[in-house]
Amino acid sequence: MPFTMLETERLRLRRFTESDLSLFMAYRNDPEIARYQGWEGISEAEAWAFIIEQRVARSGTPGEGFQIAIELKETETLIGDCFFKVNTHDKRQAEIGYTLARAYHGKGYATEAVTCWLNYAFQAFHLHRVIAIADCENHSSYALMDRLGMRREGHFIQNAWFKGHWCDEYLYAILRNEWLRAHPVEDASR
Ligand SMILES: CC(C)(COP(=O)(O)OP(=O)(O)OC[C@H]1O[C@@H](n2cnc3c(N)ncnc32)[C@H](O)[C@@H]1OP(=O)(O)O)[C@@H](O)C(=O)NCCC(=O)NCCS
Repeated sequence: MPFTMLETERLRLRRFTESDLSLFMAYRNDPEIARYQGWEGISEAEAWAFIIEQRVARSGTPGEGFQIAIELKETETLIGDCFFKVNTHDKRQAEIGYTLARAYHGKGYATEAVTCWLNYAFQAFHLHRVIAIADCENHSSYALMDRLGMRREGHFIQNAWFKGHWCDEYLYAILRNEWLRAHPVEDASR
């Protein structure tokens, strides 16, 4: 079934819509937010194209990145997004990523959103293993993976040429049975 929406206590995980444009552009063009990301910023035309593509994208298509909008229920505004991609060659494995606008850091929103997405994704896509990769300098990112109960499985030295230098990266992972043991599943789909 196509993804529509998930809810947590404070958040709504949903598809991007046209009304997200300005808030999406604001955090995508924040240099602090872009610092450890594969992008530098985004133009209005690129942001429109992104939103139009993501409105109809199919979650769980191997090799295709799917971006889930994170909305704060209290204000009904976009505060960030989760990235999700099923492995091209093995559809029981997937990668996640996450971004929050700076004003929403330090409040547990990323943990809440990614926990909700993984509860859903492990079930909906019959996943066996989920990974995430972080620059070793990006403490907030790998602290989140630690909080999520993911295991640091790899420390790769200068394995990516990134914004003018070689960077070290951590690979984190969690298996389905480990996730389900730690997070007895509730069906949050609406
Ligand atoms: C990675 C990123 C999403 C992490 O955000 P974050 O705010 O650190 O993570 P959370 O939203 O889970 O918040 C956790 C923090 O909120 C605190 N917190 C406050 N209220 C809380 C609550 N009700 N529940 C849980 N935690 C709460 C926690 O103690 C923790 O604080 P700490 O960092 O001082 O330990 C954020 O830093 C980001 O968007 N960075 C830029 C983009 C990026 O680099 N993404 C990763 C690319 S690999």
